[in-house]
Amino acid sequence: MALKWKSIRTLACVLSASAALGSTALAADAPRVQLTVATDAPGPEISRHLFGQFAEHLGTGIYGGIWVGKDSKIPNTRGIRKDVVEALRAIKVPNIRWPGGCYADKYHWRDGIGPQARRPKTLNPDWGGVIEPNSFGTHEFMDLAEQVGAEAYVSINVGSGSVREMAEWLEYMTSAKPSSLAQERVRNGAAKPFKVPLLGIGNEVWGCGGSMTPEEYAAEMKKYASFAVNFHPDQQKEGQKMRRIASGPNRDDYRFTEVVMRHVKEHALYSWGIEGLSLHSYTGLDKWPPSHPATDFAESEYMAILKATLDMETFVTKHSAIMDRYDPEKKVALVVDEWGAWYAPTAGSNPSFLQQQNSQRDAILAALNINLFARHADRVRIANIAQMINVLQAMILTSDTGIVLTPSYHAFKLYVPFQDAKLLKSQHDGQPFKLADTELPRFDSVAARGRDGKVWVALTNVHPTEPLTLQLKAGTATAARGETLTAPRFDSVNTFKQPQLVAPKPITARQDAACGCLVLDLAPASLTVVSLD
Ligand code: AHR
Repeated sequence: MALKWKSIRTLACVLSASAALGSTALAADAPRVQLTVATDAPGPEISRHLFGQFAEHLGTGIYGGIWVGKDSKIPNTRGIRKDVVEALRAIKVPNIRWPGGCYADKYHWRDGIGPQARRPKTLNPDWGGVIEPNSFGTHEFMDLAEQVGAEAYVSINVGSGSVREMAEWLEYMTSAKPSSLAQERVRNGAAKPFKVPLLGIGNEVWGCGGSMTPEEYAAEMKKYASFAVNFHPDQQKEGQKMRRIASGPNRDDYRFTEVVMRHVKEHALYSWGIEGLSLHSYTGLDKWPPSHPATDFAESEYMAILKATLDMETFVTKHSAIMDRYDPEKKVALVVDEWGAWYAPTAGSNPSFLQQQNSQRDAILAALNINLFARHADRVRIANIAQMINVLQAMILTSDTGIVLTPSYHAFKLYVPFQDAKLLKSQHDGQPFKLADTELPRFDSVAARGRDGKVWVALTNVHPTEPLTLQLKAGTATAARGETLTAPRFDSVNTFKQPQLVAPKPITARQDAACGCLVLDLAPASLTVVSLD
């Protein structure tokens, strides 16, 4: 029997205690959560840029992971790995932040242009002091962005660079007019100017970017923002202008946000401005050096890491509240351009290369963060997981013979329909649970109306070992289908030997006349994304 539900205009009227619902269609022993989605009142846009990536000159994040050179046996297009590009295209990477990270404040763009053989060999002081061949520079990065279909997010050097160096780099990249710098770019192979939609003004200026106080940085930021001129003809148009993103606070450094935003407000009448303020927060750095295990961990570790990642909710809420005071119109986006898990390095790897495995827990961690960014979509409009390839919570692990897609990659793929979708209100009656002295939400979700017109719902069963029966009510929906990312265990990983251990599988909801809802069986520690009919 096809179910007909009244259009849901208020959430409260449809919620009922799950215990009161009885149905033979439900798994007898799995706890039930009822989720109600209000399908008729779209909220703010969940910017596709929340699904941004970060590629730093760090370990094998660039060299080996992306850039193998034109003469490599690894199939490549102009030196860039084909397998990696193909996989990244499938998750519709909206932007790639480059060249750092800490490396950005050591990077001098002139080292990375011109004939490969003439580029200087420099050192990478933050990441093992290794030789940096500079084979991957501005043109190669722009080629990568184009091959992937992503926008360029260029982080400029504030810490050891200069306003002039930044201004010249921007002119080199973006000028269509034949200035000497633009002609040099043409001679180096790019007849057309590059677009730079996103510009980072320094990185972690309170730390590796120059150890500045917020007051010191605010003075620098004003100068850099004033002279950050993008000459690209298309980027003069409203809606396409370059967004300047100031280096922002670490985690709970609310004073940093306060000081920078006060300067933004006080100087808003003048010609300079910023369109974004960055926030960095990693999960797992309560121990230094990082020592939480990435694999073979116990339930207590699963609980502790997911609990810690939810600190992001507090950080985003509190930084947003400060920004609201100085920028009530929300012109300046909160840009979480470094987030993700940071664990003990893979045994046998160079610890400076920040290589780690990536488990089903990390897919859940990613989902929890994406959901909360989406719920703050009015202020959080850009985010970049750290990092894209082979480093920290990577999407892809590479070797000379192939690639492995991590559980985090699959999570990002499941969320593709949420890119530029409109947030929908939803409410559930899931109760927190406790294990190993740690309390976590039992269930988490986000709903949106996609650009395809469909209602999409992402459902996370947070419990590491117990399934969950989800009762879903959403407008007049009578069917839901999509994919579910489950794993044999919460610490399961994909490896070169077993690359498909964690991979999405189709899932279809069943109708339940007794509850007047759709029912989905959610496996332990799983992420499910369905669209509704
Ligand atoms: O992502 C690794 C490093 O973490 C980045 O270079 C830096 O910005 C942060 O501290």
